[in-house]
Amino acid sequence: MSDTAPASKFTPRVFSGIQPSGGLTLGNYLGAIKRFVSMQDEDFETVYCMVDLHAITVWQDPADLRHNTRELAAGFIASGISPDKSILINQSQVPEHAQLGWIFNCVARMGWMGRMTQFKDKAGKNTEKVSLGLFGYPALMAADILVYHATHVPVGEDQKQHLELTRDIAAKFNHDYGVDFFPITEPVIEGAATRVMSLRDGSKKMSKSDPSDASRINMTDDADTIAKKIRKAKTDPDALPSEAAGLENRPEARNLVNIYAALNEQTVDQVLADVGGQQFGTFKPQLAELAVAKLAPISSEMARLMSDPAEIDRILAKGALQAREITAPILKKTYDIVGMVS
Ligand code: AMP
Ligand code: TRP
Repeated sequence: MSDTAPASKFTPRVFSGIQPSGGLTLGNYLGAIKRFVSMQDEDFETVYCMVDLHAITVWQDPADLRHNTRELAAGFIASGISPDKSILINQSQVPEHAQLGWIFNCVARMGWMGRMTQFKDKAGKNTEKVSLGLFGYPALMAADILVYHATHVPVGEDQKQHLELTRDIAAKFNHDYGVDFFPITEPVIEGAATRVMSLRDGSKKMSKSDPSDASRINMTDDADTIAKKIRKAKTDPDALPSEAAGLENRPEARNLVNIYAALNEQTVDQVLADVGGQQFGTFKPQLAELAVAKLAPISSEMARLMSDPAEIDRILAKGALQAREITAPILKKTYDIVGMVS
């Protein structure tokens, strides 16, 4: 590919990542992984990543990090990501991510980083005490994507701002060095559940870091736990509406309907055409049944895969070799553009 290739000349390639900073949640599954799986069968090369270098921007116990990285790999595979169709990697095993990340630390501006809402949320009032890595996090994320010249990035809604920054970094690099080397990546934020909310508070995102376990469904929860969490999920006293417009200002009701629609691969209006008029006492058991039917096979397959961690490590080692065939030449070319003697 020449330096001046137009964006359309880039190989259609998908990259996305998830942090191994805890267990997988239903939010990760519906907001991200389901789309990762379907994109394998479209006209893309697909690369999916456990971003362990991002995870350590906040403290991770080493044994937990190792366990969570393998469990996340098991979650990807159990959800349908095939190591034969996709390249599955652990970020730190492909050193070009961190190497390009450094170059991007020198391209991105402090002011851009300071505007990131995820940084502001995670740092809170404590901006002096958080790691420098947490501040620079989006530059490494841009490197994850651009070291593959990835053209499409499926993510949940919360990553939109980081992807805009990735585009800004690519554009500034191309402009500063007078090249057309990095693609301007397209975010893929689609589906009924791009933002799954907490089961305890419809104004908060479902998150693996929420102190309340009842706020989320973990991919490793058993059928009883899933059913209990849904039964206890916060709702309002009204019946379900028969059209999406009726969910306005009803965040908890909207969340449960969105989850149902995403799990059942329907639109919200299709779901409401069936369940409109029902009370939550009737709707929740149906949602629980659906969630268990979709998630239980994934969690039991995860447990099976986790009983052979050496096999997971082999898959990741193979993924790293495949990945480096793509990333090493792109990093080399970047170094040449920047003026590094090689
Ligand atoms: P993280 O767990 O923060 O590394 O997120 C990994 C992926 O899951 C990203 O694409 C997120 O946007 C997505 N994600 C995380 N939580 C949610 C949620 N509650 N709803 C939808 N997508 C989510
Ligand atoms: N920041 C993402 C998150 O917290 C994880 C991530 C790191 C990522 N690098 C990425 C997502 C590259 C997509 C592409 O969810």
